[in-house]
Amino acid sequence: MSAEVRRAAEILRAGGLVAFPTETVYGLGADASSAKAVARLYAVKRRPADHPVIVHFASADDAFTWAREVPDAAKLLARQFWPGPLTLILKRSAKAQDFVTGAQDNVGLRVPSHPVAHELLTLFKGGVAAPSANRFGLVSPTTAAHVRADLGADVDLVLEGGPSEVGIESTIVDLSGGGPVLLRPGRIRKADLEKALGMKMQEKAKASPRHSGGLERHYAPQTPARLVPTYDLDKEIARLKEKVAVLAFSRPDERVDYWLRMPRDPDAYAQKLYGALRELDTAGCEEILVEAPPEAPEWAAVRDRLQRACR
Ligand code: TXA
Ligand code: MG
Repeated sequence: MSAEVRRAAEILRAGGLVAFPTETVYGLGADASSAKAVARLYAVKRRPADHPVIVHFASADDAFTWAREVPDAAKLLARQFWPGPLTLILKRSAKAQDFVTGAQDNVGLRVPSHPVAHELLTLFKGGVAAPSANRFGLVSPTTAAHVRADLGADVDLVLEGGPSEVGIESTIVDLSGGGPVLLRPGRIRKADLEKALGMKMQEKAKASPRHSGGLERHYAPQTPARLVPTYDLDKEIARLKEKVAVLAFSRPDERVDYWLRMPRDPDAYAQKLYGALRELDTAGCEEILVEAPPEAPEWAAVRDRLQRACR
């Protein structure tokens, strides 16, 4: 693997694009200090230029050089959750230029734990701007095969790292203003963050224009998907006329053409979610029915992604 990772670091240094595995989802990486490399990243992603990207580092010390203020809360969360599936939004230093921050005064920083990501970031040394390695608005990739299917020849190298262990994007906490604000739920839960911080956290209202995860239709399959409460699932299936796919907790129903059964544990569910949506999306169905997950707090991240994937 190491020779491949060395090649990847060289490609980044030359201004190229490298897709790499992280524990959350695969990222599409570019040198975060190169305007040209980041411009190409946005073009391939088909992402609007005013959307900021997360910058990835090998260590918290490296990451914090991109912030001009590192509040105690950031140090605390970094100590407890980095490397890992957490992104911190901090006031930017001069290293974080307009083309990675969407011209905002803050920057998103993350230290991933995946060994291949860590090796790449260690070899590269600088910050690597990396959104999820899918086209804008679609479901994030959790395998190298997903990346190749989405981006094909538009990326210079795809590093293989197995299926992403978390399966959904990092938890994002904004520490750039007054108190901590949860911008995007993820594997690291609100309660764990509050416990680490010793204080309550605000939650960002839905549909913020400043981060693309906040756009309503995001993380979405191309087949229309609809959330159905458990008690309505049978009724919905009974009156179906078209070919549909179902994502549910229960056993397959023979009236349905394509059925994927999902785990009852929220972390296991998240790990399988995007692969499952991709699979159902290629089943040639008119609609995807998704059994709504429980209301409990540990399901917040899965509920968030499903609400965005569904109409
Ligand atoms: O798990 C992850 O975070 C993955 C892996 C590759 O690290 N990355 C990821 O990136 O999900 P992306 O670009 O697909 O989503 C990042 C979210 C976007 O909604 C982006 O707008 C927001 O983070 N974001 C980045 N920098 C920000 C900032 N300075 N202020 C507010 N939101 C920011
Ligand atoms: Mg994304």
